[in-house]
Amino acid sequence: MAAIEPSARIGQLRPTAVNSILAEVRALQAEGKSLISLMRGEPDFRTPAHIVEAAQKALRDGRTSYPDNRGEPRLREAVRLKLERDNGLRYDPASEILVTTGATFGIHAALTAVLNPGDEVLLPEPVYDAYYSPVLLAGGVVRAVPARIAGGRFVLDAEAIDAACGPRTRMLLLNTPWNPTGTVFSRAELERIADVVLRRGLVLVSDEIYEAITYEGHQHLSPATLSAEVRERTIVVNSFSKTYAMTGWRAGYCAAPPAITQAMFLVLQQSSRGPATFVQDACTEALTASQDCVAAMRDEYASRRTAVLRALDGVAGCRMLAPEGGFFAMADVRALGTPSNDVRRALMRDHGVVVAHGSAYGPSGEGTLRVSFATGGDTLQRGLERLRAGFAALRAVE
Ligand SMILES: Cc1ncc(COP(=O)(O)O)c(C=O)c1O
Repeated sequence: MAAIEPSARIGQLRPTAVNSILAEVRALQAEGKSLISLMRGEPDFRTPAHIVEAAQKALRDGRTSYPDNRGEPRLREAVRLKLERDNGLRYDPASEILVTTGATFGIHAALTAVLNPGDEVLLPEPVYDAYYSPVLLAGGVVRAVPARIAGGRFVLDAEAIDAACGPRTRMLLLNTPWNPTGTVFSRAELERIADVVLRRGLVLVSDEIYEAITYEGHQHLSPATLSAEVRERTIVVNSFSKTYAMTGWRAGYCAAPPAITQAMFLVLQQSSRGPATFVQDACTEALTASQDCVAAMRDEYASRRTAVLRALDGVAGCRMLAPEGGFFAMADVRALGTPSNDVRRALMRDHGVVVAHGSAYGPSGEGTLRVSFATGGDTLQRGLERLRAGFAALRAVE
């Protein structure tokens, strides 16, 4: 009998950069090669004990039936409190907050709720490449907006966003702090971007999952705080994954005006129906208990960031773009004169260290490598040593 044919819709999708690199990593490991990975965005912290305990207690208390599909009322109230406390945003938990299965589902719900077939979505590039497929699945068309390196950071010009707009452009998907670049948009930058959003009548999806991890005075600002008009056009997407080291719990939330929250709720109701009830209780604990655990993780990321910059900046053709937020550092290796995917492969095969190549995040990422410090300790130290040796060797054969 013939095998089941996947749909034409699925035929458009492609694996993420991380998955493609992982396939190469596994093949090399199967040959017996020892590799150190500075590639993934997976925090090496355990979920803080009080959050784990809240889940265990919820399980013991029998909190195992279907959740409220909008999100358990206590969690929506905790999200309301958090948005006001941390972001200065006011949302009604009854009609403007939706609990989702991670930011991944929040983005999917936002796209599906807003896009008509053929609507264009602007993706600033270098782009977190897992944004592509949900746009296509929702019937949208991707329009890249190239960023450029200036003053030691990736800069996104409002003019470039404006220039990418056409009659079918409907949405801008912004990520601040920005994976992979490490840029945290300033108020002035966000204001210029928001001007374009309003003038062009776009919907702004604001992915804020790295908000808690910022450095050296850079502070996360949600674009929804800029004005009532911008808030009306914005869908805030957030998650517990990075802030609380809860990637495997699959929990996040969105905040948006009532009509769009309702539309996203319909998407959710017909698909995931939200995170498990006991997981939602743990998330309530995460948001309402002391935030000291978040500060402690941020401090640790800050010292890892310093270690990465010290180890790599100025080494044999490598200039580091000091990240303003998140746990990725971009290495500018344009001076090596070799495509970033070739540099990545050489580092992996010849020096046993895995990073992501910038071109995986679109042509504007060419000439860079993304180095993750989501994992620290010995892995980070040994990985950095291998990178230094690798850059020196690549420089020597130029
Ligand atoms: C920019 C960005 N958005 C969304 C996600 C996915 O988040 P979640 O685990 O909440 O689905 C990631 C994960 O790496 C990310 O980097």
